[in-house]
Amino acid sequence: QAQAQTVKIGLILPMTGPFASTGRQIEAAAKLYMAQKGATVAGKTVELIVKDDTGTPDVTRRIAQELLVNDKVSFLAGFGLTPLAFAVAPLATQSKTPLIVMAAATSSITEQSPFVVRTSFTLPQVTIGIADWAAKNGVKKAMTLVSDYGPGIDAEKAFKERLTAAGGEVVGEVRIPLRNPDFSPFLQRVADTKPDALFVFVPSGAGSQFMKQFVERGLDKSGVRLIATGDVTDDDIVDSMGDVALGTITTHHYSAAHPSAENKAFVEAFRKAANTRPNFMAVGGWDGMHLIYEALKKTNGATDGTALVEAMKGMAWTSPRGPISIDAKTRDIVQNVYARKVEKVDGQLYNVEFSTFEAVPDPVKAGK
Ligand code: DHB
Repeated sequence: QAQAQTVKIGLILPMTGPFASTGRQIEAAAKLYMAQKGATVAGKTVELIVKDDTGTPDVTRRIAQELLVNDKVSFLAGFGLTPLAFAVAPLATQSKTPLIVMAAATSSITEQSPFVVRTSFTLPQVTIGIADWAAKNGVKKAMTLVSDYGPGIDAEKAFKERLTAAGGEVVGEVRIPLRNPDFSPFLQRVADTKPDALFVFVPSGAGSQFMKQFVERGLDKSGVRLIATGDVTDDDIVDSMGDVALGTITTHHYSAAHPSAENKAFVEAFRKAANTRPNFMAVGGWDGMHLIYEALKKTNGATDGTALVEAMKGMAWTSPRGPISIDAKTRDIVQNVYARKVEKVDGQLYNVEFSTFEAVPDPVKAGK
């Protein structure tokens, strides 16, 4: 009997350090996907190799190099932060290896290599919805607070352009360092200025500290409306924020409360496997594995990188987050974006979806 050959996937994630929750979520989702679908696809045995890059670009690049040269992986996947994806994109091009971005969300990442395919999201994609919501709900003057790197700058720009186009105004903006952020000085300015709303982007995991300082400055009682991308009210941490988070309006592509049969099954299985609520990072990992499995089916198990990326272009399926597809031209994800409000469901805080922007592409690339 012929021995099935092995196809290796190098999954590089921050498993330690300040962004470890991203790594834990994606690893759990990838393993759950394999446990449910089996480790054999198109006659090949799939082997997942998980490596910790600690969230440091130099480490990500070194690990990717080792995975390519020593392990001969057919896929590089993961990428918990934008700089980590940027660090590896040239290696994907040189080695013609599909690079599946499951987390990082700066618009331009897919333009760094023709081998990048993304199953997470882009910040402009999820930000224009909250700007539209704000404009329609009486927000004339807003201030913005974002983490000072790719996704934050994307969010700041998308929010300002969209609110301004709708007749609103951004009256103050600040970029806060990604590492060891201190939001207090700017929050004092917000308290003094009293805009109609404060728009915030911080990456997965950082929302708790933001919310703590928001409350410490008394902003929860100031009448300044808190609006954000769903990164801030991440499913991972929203319940632990407590009732101050209630009523926060965000837009994002995934909520653990998304009311579909696929999502109910996903959340239940994830809880059983990982003993926690899946967040948007988990769903990026889950769909990244689906993309890899389906591409291998299409190539009948062939691992030529160019053929695999071609197989991924235009692929469409139903994710726990709703219907999604890979834009054949940009290799970026097209997906529903939902407006949500933090509410209590069975005693726990969730992002409860109340309206849908359907099949949203990355607006930056759609405009090119
Ligand atoms: C990125 C990281 C995050 O944790 C997030 O929520 C959004 C974007 C990034 O680095 O691209």
